[in-house]
Amino acid sequence: MAKVIILSGAGISAESGISTFRDDNGLWENHKIEDVCTNGCLITNREQTIKFYDMLRVGLEDKEPNYAHKIVSNLKNKYPNDIAVITQNVDDLFEKAGCTDVLHLHGFLKELRCEKCNTIVNIEYEKQFKDHDNCPKCNNLLRPNIVFFGDSAPKYKDMYEEFETCEVFVVIGTSGAVIYTDMFLNPQIKLSILNNLQESPYINDTVYSKVLYKKASEAIDEIASDIEKYLLN
Ligand code: APR
Repeated sequence: MAKVIILSGAGISAESGISTFRDDNGLWENHKIEDVCTNGCLITNREQTIKFYDMLRVGLEDKEPNYAHKIVSNLKNKYPNDIAVITQNVDDLFEKAGCTDVLHLHGFLKELRCEKCNTIVNIEYEKQFKDHDNCPKCNNLLRPNIVFFGDSAPKYKDMYEEFETCEVFVVIGTSGAVIYTDMFLNPQIKLSILNNLQESPYINDTVYSKVLYKKASEAIDEIASDIEKYLLN
């Protein structure tokens, strides 16, 4: 169990050219959550929903990890048991940066999941539509392995378990609209660092030990140095 949790959101991938959700021109400004990311939309709007995730998946192929992904990945590789890398992101940029053990709370874009038997199929950067409709095991319908609003999110249990031993909590690039990061700040947390571009209405930044309102790539060296100092003391 880890002493340090690095919880990231869309902001850490923004500098790699992946849209965030709630910033200006974010994904949810241009697409409706209820059309493509709500429990039931695979029944009422199946084709458009699958095509939406196909677009995101295909777009991922040429995206490269940025400096923040690389520094987080280096740290995780250096202190594999002390650091948990937890992300709300469904992209593979930590993996591309060499990080092998990432907890993806909201699913993983490269994967499809059988609606019946839950078999996971990795289709890399291919389109699902018409090419990967059915489960190779049971022939029932496949769906993007993405947690929609209203779906259960089984990986949250793993996150809560990591918090049982967490002493350093780092938040990078999330508005806190879906996961209220403030709620994790219990007395056991000795150091908490918040890094976003700007204030968020969902986060009370006065409860964090350190607040860095700047790009993740500009904040990450200071964050990494604070984490290492803590671990080596
Ligand atoms: N560096 C650091 N932070 C950044 C950067 C950057 N370069 N660019 C943007 N940000 C910050 C913004 O200030 C904002 O606080 O990233 C945050 C992005 O917030 P959201 O768009 O709400 O993304 P996120 O918090 O990851 O969304 C959570 O919502 O719809 C769901 O499932 C989806 O996982 C997603 C969840």
